[in-house]
Amino acid sequence: MTDSVAAHYSGSGTLADAISNSLLSAGKDLTKLTTADLATVDEFHIRGRKATLELAEKMQLTNDSRVLDIGSGLGGPARTLAEEYGCHVTGIDLTQAFCDAAEVLSDWVNLGNRVAFQQGDATELPFADNQFDAAMTIHVAMNIPAKDRMYEQARRVLKPGGVFAVYDVLAGDGGEVNFPVPWAREPSISHLATNDEMKSLLSDAGFNILGDHDSTGESQNWFEAKAARMTQSGPPQVTFQVFLGEDYPEMVRNQVRNLSERRIRTVSYICEA
Ligand SMILES: C[S@@+](CC[C@H](N)C(=O)[O-])C[C@H]1O[C@@H](n2cnc3c(N)ncnc32)[C@H](O)[C@@H]1O
Repeated sequence: MTDSVAAHYSGSGTLADAISNSLLSAGKDLTKLTTADLATVDEFHIRGRKATLELAEKMQLTNDSRVLDIGSGLGGPARTLAEEYGCHVTGIDLTQAFCDAAEVLSDWVNLGNRVAFQQGDATELPFADNQFDAAMTIHVAMNIPAKDRMYEQARRVLKPGGVFAVYDVLAGDGGEVNFPVPWAREPSISHLATNDEMKSLLSDAGFNILGDHDSTGESQNWFEAKAARMTQSGPPQVTFQVFLGEDYPEMVRNQVRNLSERRIRTVSYICEA
């Protein structure tokens, strides 16, 4: 199961090279890159950097905070937090190719001393108990069937009172998901929970849910705008297509349908350990 998930995300060749080629094609100067230049490829979730910043606002971060990003991907959300709050973020991700690229991209924007990435599984976190002040996970649990273990592990590594911010794609009530989607080409690696299931899972793991927000309408608008731009001018040069491949435009069209028909929802939860 985990091998199939990592294979879905890995793409071919060296990811950092593919991203630097796409940045050069877009006319970027690689010696002067900012996190904003990377955001269209390294904030790999619906509504991108804006959604990360909205979540971070509720995480009570200071420049002393030690933060864990579970399923950190290419490291965009980790770098956004490190840059905005001066905190230190450790990212863990199942896909080795993403962890390798995350380290390279962090050096490009001079944040290598505030973030660190390592390969690992969210359901078996390789960290001691009570180690982090805050944790987040963005668009990861939809690939994980054992969500009870994932949230139990998050609770274990957080200090008592630490904030856990969760932003994920959930099952809606509009019927089956249309595949391919960015997290899966077919159903065997897609494991969406409902809102009720998420609340039970988080509570059962020992979290106190302080608030939740359903952003499905905003997510639909975001994907509709992306699909319209792609119809007019094709996929942008610096985008998830670099690793998702040629069926990325089909994934975007499916996401417009999945969101508008409420086959999926996007919901965030702010929890206290
Ligand atoms: C859609 S990406 C989101 C990446 C990142 N959170 C972001 O928002 O940019 C999903 C990520 O979850 C990771 N992932 C899936 N299953 C995982 C697991 N069991 N443990 C750790 N990471 C996992 C994948 O490798 C991938 O990087």
